[in-house]
Amino acid sequence: MKLLSLVLGFSLLLLPHLSHASLQSLIDLKSPFELSSLPYPANSLEPFIDSETMLIHHDLHHQGYVKALNENLKKKGVSMMDIFNSASQKSEKVRNNAGGHWNHTFFWDILSRDESSNTMPKSLEKEIAETFGSVKKFKTDFEAKGKELFGSGWVWLIRNTKGRLEITATPNQDNPLMNDVLVRGIPILGADIWEHAYYLKYRNERVKYLSNFWNVVNWKRVNEYSEESRDIKLKQ
Ligand SMILES: [Fe+2]
Repeated sequence: MKLLSLVLGFSLLLLPHLSHASLQSLIDLKSPFELSSLPYPANSLEPFIDSETMLIHHDLHHQGYVKALNENLKKKGVSMMDIFNSASQKSEKVRNNAGGHWNHTFFWDILSRDESSNTMPKSLEKEIAETFGSVKKFKTDFEAKGKELFGSGWVWLIRNTKGRLEITATPNQDNPLMNDVLVRGIPILGADIWEHAYYLKYRNERVKYLSNFWNVVNWKRVNEYSEESRDIKLKQ
């Protein structure tokens, strides 16, 4: 396993970096899609998310979604939002792998162990407290949503189509940008609830993984996404 980590770690150095981190640029990503490198060293989220999990998650799982998406989509110049706007008409392979690629690209970007990023900016804190009662209540509700999700999926904090913050969950690799999900909106925070995201370290303790997740949230980035999400409109 150590050798695998070494090989995967080296391969990270060869990947392109995602140059734009705006939410709009993630939505506008176009085919053929490519895997960008993690925006930080794989061990930098320790001890809350271990290096080996990060390497396998990024280099094998995420890479797998990118490869399968390109193989099944075949066309060039198709944007992520083109796919999500007609997700209900896409094949399962395109839908699942497009979701897999977008969700993970987004996920890496909202994580950090940099202290200056781990503090929630006041404006976001205020809106979260006004919406959910308090930041503590928001975190409890978010964790509960992850706990009650049956099987694999994602828990999200979104700005819904009415412009309000809302917690929602999606199964598999679905996300709130897709045209046929129960609650649509712009993701500003997401937690991967697939076992591959936590099983090596947390085994079956999903709740523990989720409660530790708060230690690695890049609130600075989430706040940027929150502000940007006010101007992004979903096609009906
Ligand atoms: Fe994942």
